[in-house]
Amino acid sequence: MGFTPTDSIWFNGKLVPWKDATVHVLAHGLQYGTGVFEGMKSYPTPDGPAIFRLDAHLERFFKSAELYDLAIPYSQATLADASLDVVRVNKLEASYLRPVAFCDAGTLSVWTKECPISVAIAAVPTGKYLANADAGVRVTVSPIRKFDATAIPAWAKACGQYINSARAVNEAQRRGFDEAILLNSQGLVAEGSGENLFLVKDGRVVTNDKDASILMGVTRASVLEIARDLGIEARVAPISVEDVLHADELFFTGTAVEVTPIREVDGRVIGDGKPGPVTRRIQDTFNQAVRGQLPQYRRWLSYVRQAVTSRG
Ligand SMILES: Cc1ncc(COP(=O)(O)O)c(C=O)c1O
Repeated sequence: MGFTPTDSIWFNGKLVPWKDATVHVLAHGLQYGTGVFEGMKSYPTPDGPAIFRLDAHLERFFKSAELYDLAIPYSQATLADASLDVVRVNKLEASYLRPVAFCDAGTLSVWTKECPISVAIAAVPTGKYLANADAGVRVTVSPIRKFDATAIPAWAKACGQYINSARAVNEAQRRGFDEAILLNSQGLVAEGSGENLFLVKDGRVVTNDKDASILMGVTRASVLEIARDLGIEARVAPISVEDVLHADELFFTGTAVEVTPIREVDGRVIGDGKPGPVTRRIQDTFNQAVRGQLPQYRRWLSYVRQAVTSRG
């Protein structure tokens, strides 16, 4: 998912030209990974562009920051307005938004109390995240384990945590796969490098939770709700490699990948190798929900036209 530059990025309280949204090489967040971020999307709807689950994403953003003693110097309401502003001023419809808050340049010590905190929100036109997403992706169970929650809680979305994901997906792609499935320190399934995992068995949908060392995805929560609304039994339970290999259907969820079918795990074909019927039903409903086509899910949308001008 490359990106096309837009006109403006919200940076420390104001909209600045794309080329001016830069940081110092000694930024603590760059040196030590001390930052937190979010990934959110806006979609075109009949009432203009809207950001999907803006509040849930920003709540997680603040919770992630708290874990790292990173005091975001703006309110959640200000960042919500700023998010809507970057979509509107850049005249975007389908876009990917990237809020980030990080320890800026101020010290080379590992501790962060001398660091100023910088916050930015960029939005770029949406691109496809995983190749082959429509037909289903090919994945491998990674030899690289997910970090243990006793070291770093996986429920937080912090910049430095992603070196674990980057290693796993790079290793998978070197071996010709689209994506990796990481196991946790107990040898159970955790998640993809940037996605949660669902399986379908005997018509029931299963996904794991916090105990499995996963990021508690906003898409995951939305899909659980959608599945139940569709009358599909949805359970939260630990998932083993065996469960994955013998699933009738498998799919990833995430802001970037939305609902993406998995057609193969380490060469083993899942189902008949095509996106399965339960996956398709959930995917279709999700795709309509994010585009404001289903009244019961409009509460998940924050409409860009209702934005007020950014507060500083
Ligand atoms: C490691 C990881 N797991 C799961 C997800 C899915 O989370 P969400 O649905 O909130 O985008 C993401 C993406 O943000 C992720 O990076």
